[in-house]
Amino acid sequence: MSDQHTHQNFETRAIHAGNTADPLTGAVVPPIYQVSTYKQDGVGGLRGGYEYSRSANPTRTALEENLAALEGGRRGLAFASGLAAEDCLLRTLLVPGDHVVIPNDAYGGTFRLFAKVVARWGVEWSVADTSDPAAVRDAITDRTKAIWVETPSNPLLGITDIAALADVARTAGVRLVVDNTFASPYLQQPLALGADVVVHSLTKYMGGHSDVVGGALVTADETLGEELAYHQNAMGAVAGPFDSWIVLRGIKTLAVRMDRHSENATRVAEMLQQHPKVTQVLYPGLPEHPGHEVAAKQMRSFGGMISFRVEGGEEAAVEVCNRAKLFTLGESLGGVESLIEHPGRMTHASVAGSLLEVPADLVRLSVGIENVDDLLEDLRQALG
Ligand SMILES: Cc1ncc(COP(=O)(O)O)c(C=O)c1O
Repeated sequence: MSDQHTHQNFETRAIHAGNTADPLTGAVVPPIYQVSTYKQDGVGGLRGGYEYSRSANPTRTALEENLAALEGGRRGLAFASGLAAEDCLLRTLLVPGDHVVIPNDAYGGTFRLFAKVVARWGVEWSVADTSDPAAVRDAITDRTKAIWVETPSNPLLGITDIAALADVARTAGVRLVVDNTFASPYLQQPLALGADVVVHSLTKYMGGHSDVVGGALVTADETLGEELAYHQNAMGAVAGPFDSWIVLRGIKTLAVRMDRHSENATRVAEMLQQHPKVTQVLYPGLPEHPGHEVAAKQMRSFGGMISFRVEGGEEAAVEVCNRAKLFTLGESLGGVESLIEHPGRMTHASVAGSLLEVPADLVRLSVGIENVDDLLEDLRQALG
């Protein structure tokens, strides 16, 4: 993060970090440098340090500086998707024979990347309940290089104590990776709690408007940041200029959006808890949630994601999803509009039959920033 922004509060950094006025025109928003290559003034004479847009592009640089400032990291890197960011991280941190501890609840695509892609390169993994630091300690072997955590987790909204796992990681001499997609840096700051790397699907709250796919890595450490930047260029799955620009635009309202997501989700969770057709509500903001205390300690508020279980099993859960009208039936999350989905058949179909299989009667909500009364009415009619 540039020193210029270290003293600023989050909302100010979200708007200003990386967003310097265009030196040529004074445009207050960084332009979309939709360009692949740059004129050199004589061989090797680069005007602004840019030579080819896979290596670096000014609009992407603006986003990467902004990301580093928001997570309080040394280096931010933007990718074509969250999974592209994860792939770059895994192939930078791990070589054949290495081992990684992964959570028993995580985005299905992350699990698929470990189980079906990275495993073929000879990287081993084992699953642990990351909400229990002792279970993670037990899963570490002499070949372990990293612990991977998602908190809150997708789709069961499990909470992991980041500071406690940072201690476990430090003692074992392994790296702690935190997927901060569900919380966003406004609600949770994993690097300040001792994590080494933060992962994001920028597709979600950071972009915030369901109109872009992107991913990011932010490191606490300059050396790892350099290594990742080398691999980012060598592997090539970078964020394009337009995608970088639209994420940067979304981030400017991240703080106000997250406040409203959290407020609306709290009201929705409380309503669901009272509903006779709902057997369990998974939301870390509820005092009954097993991770509530840890979440209250490490998060500013509890975010916009809720999962709940429905009386009547899988068919009943699918019916609720089909009957919702204002909640759009669709995958993904984190946009201003509310979404509903059935993880077992949709986002988490790839973990069926694995240790990460999700309950069949589970419904997941991404609670948007519409008027909460309209959201409550829609859910009541969907539940019947
Ligand atoms: C928690 C989490 N991490 C990572 C990803 C992957 O991101 P992307 O879809 O941008 O590749 C997702 C996508 O849903 C996610 O929910």
